[in-house]
Amino acid sequence: MPDPAVASDLPNTFAPYDDRTQPTARIEHYAETWVRTPDRPLVRRPMTLTEITGPTRLAAKLKPGNNDLAHPYPDRPRAAGQLIHVTGRVTDEDGRPVAASVIELWHCNANGRYIHPMDAKSPNPIDENFIGSGRVATDADGRYMFRTIKPAAYPYPNHPTRWWRPPHIHMSLFGDGFMSRLVTQMFFPGEPFNDIDLILQSVPDPKGRERMISRQLPMSEAIDPNVVVYAHDIVLRGRRQTPFGM
Ligand SMILES: [Fe+2]
Repeated sequence: MPDPAVASDLPNTFAPYDDRTQPTARIEHYAETWVRTPDRPLVRRPMTLTEITGPTRLAAKLKPGNNDLAHPYPDRPRAAGQLIHVTGRVTDEDGRPVAASVIELWHCNANGRYIHPMDAKSPNPIDENFIGSGRVATDADGRYMFRTIKPAAYPYPNHPTRWWRPPHIHMSLFGDGFMSRLVTQMFFPGEPFNDIDLILQSVPDPKGRERMISRQLPMSEAIDPNVVVYAHDIVLRGRRQTPFGM
């Protein structure tokens, strides 16, 4: 194990992102993107253990049922909407499974309403039986599955041209360390608003946009005939070289 104080001894194990595969940092009329992106050029600095490690044993803290947003309260009906399963595999850029990675996810209900103070002025009704967020951990092969309802499209508030967000699920992943942290959105195939969504369309590379859109699996592959299954694989940053000592 290298001395964490000697940062230059640690290999620079992460390749930089290709900006063409990432959303544009600042999207016009989308205020959040302006306050969450840096004003000045980034400063390159060597990585230390702080960057290449991260929270450990997060998966052990999850409770059974954390991955069920559709029926979170056993004594109440399930959430309204189309039942879906979202499943997939999390790997690093070298194709290795990322095991025990916690995926946090959140999305609006089948009416297009979030359980969040920022959505308090929405005219869309809340669903008392929908929990709005969940967590799931990947297994040893990097696979995950959660059960929920398909979110609706919703109008982005205060946009001059009435921008509608297509149905989407927000996801946040912890990989092996902070450098592999990923916050992203999963889209659904065949949605007409996908083609005009300012966030999805801000990714310049068409293959990058494709990677954000899930696949609907044939109904024959659904374990439960009442559920539509979407597959969504996720690639986290990986290591170009295996760190020494491992
Ligand atoms: Fe959203």
